Formats: sequence, structure tokens, C-alpha cells
Amino acid sequence: MKKLIAANWKMNGQSAWASKPEQLFDLLGKIIPDRSQILICPPSVYLQQVAKNAHKYGMNAGAQNCHSENSGAFTGEISANMAADCEADYIICGHSERRAMFGDTDATVKAKADSVITSAMGAIICVGETLDQRESGEANSTIESQLRASTPEASTALNTVIAYEPIWAIGTGKTATLEDIAQMHAHIRAVYSDMFGEKSAQDLCIQYGGSVKPANAKDILSTDGVDGALVGGASLNMEDFAKIVQAA
Ligand code: PGA
Repeated sequence: MKKLIAANWKMNGQSAWASKPEQLFDLLGKIIPDRSQILICPPSVYLQQVAKNAHKYGMNAGAQNCHSENSGAFTGEISANMAADCEADYIICGHSERRAMFGDTDATVKAKADSVITSAMGAIICVGETLDQRESGEANSTIESQLRASTPEASTALNTVIAYEPIWAIGTGKTATLEDIAQMHAHIRAVYSDMFGEKSAQDLCIQYGGSVKPANAKDILSTDGVDGALVGGASLNMEDFAKIVQAA
């Protein structure tokens, strides 16, 4: 399976960053490694510019969030089909920052992912446990319940990516152990298999996210069941991001 390496710029960037795909292409020696797919998710105001350049260099672009409705009186929001109109290929749904700070629930994440799929893009559905949940032995059950409640019925391995991002590892410099990552990815695949069948589960791309950086990318990306990475902080620096892509 190809590894999907995604840059989540969060609320960082400026219009000059639209040239980052070209910079990345140069850093990669003008070669997009065929075993990896590159995805850049800028703030939505820059999406169209970044998407145009990403496509020029054989990469993908995506939004970081969307509303579940196509249009309407939702001041400040963007819809999945608007992102598609700006040439997005994917939309991140239910990032833990959205869940913690902007009220995204499993039900809204599911509705958003459904609208992403209906708009013919890939939905990257994020799941992750808190440190408390991990330490009290509830990591598996937390992830299972998030997955079951956040994944729309229309999900297939072609239109869905699951990003496992332990909340305590995001932006903290802490990463889960390789054993914990392998265990959780196998657990996610088993739950997905129960929901959508064995074949879909085998084909499903499951990313790991949480303090992925050049120094740990190779180990994480060669861990069993890890099909890619969702990279926050280290994706703001194209040299670091290029190294992560190369590790894939
Ligand atoms: P991080 O963020 O790489 O800065 O930990 C990952 C994410 O939030 O997707």
C-alpha cells in the first residue's frame, strides 16, 4: 500500500506558502516517491492556491475541516463541496483540536465525513484517546466507540482514511511506543473490518499522527499497520517534511 503523508498546517501560513509544493518537489530531487502520496492541508483561505500548485507537482491538497451542509446560513463555515470546488482531494474530519475546542462530536464528524464522501473526496477521520483514557486502560474502547460513531455508512477504503492521533502525543514531542502504535492500528483495522468487512479493512489506509518528525518517521512508518502519517508541527518546515516523505 502507498503511504499517505499529510501535512496539517493548522492555523499557520500565508499566501506566499502557496509555493511550498514546488519547494518540496525540489527538496525531493524533483521526484515524487511512488510509494508515498503527499497531501498538504493549508488553512482554507489558501486552499485553492495550494491545491493548484500541489497538483502541478503531483501532490494532493486538502482542507482541515468543513461543515456537513452544502450551503446555508452558517457564518464563517465552508462546505465540503466548496473545498472540492477549490480542488481539494481530502478533508480532515474530527481532528482532536476540533473535537476539544470547536464542539465537534462523533455525530458531527460522521455528518462531515459523509458530506466529504458525497463530494467525491477522501475523508480523513481522526480518532485518539487522552492520556487519562490510556492510563486507565480505556484506549481501545475509546477508539472503538469514536470509530463506530464517526464513520459514515458510505465509508470504503477508497474514500476514507483513519488517522490515529493519541491526543497526548499531539504537539507535545511525545510519541506512542511502536508497540502501542502497532496494537492500536491492528485494533482499528479489526473494528473497521467488523463494520465494513475484511477486504475493506485490509485496504484501509490508517495514518499515525502525533509528534511525527524526521528523527522518528522511519521507525513509525515501518511499524506494522501504519500506512501513513498526519504531520502537524514538522510539516511547517518543508525540509523536515521532505525528510518524513523520504522516510516513507
Ligand atoms: P503534531 O500534530 O505533528 O504537531 O503533533 C499532529 C496533528 O495534530 O495532526
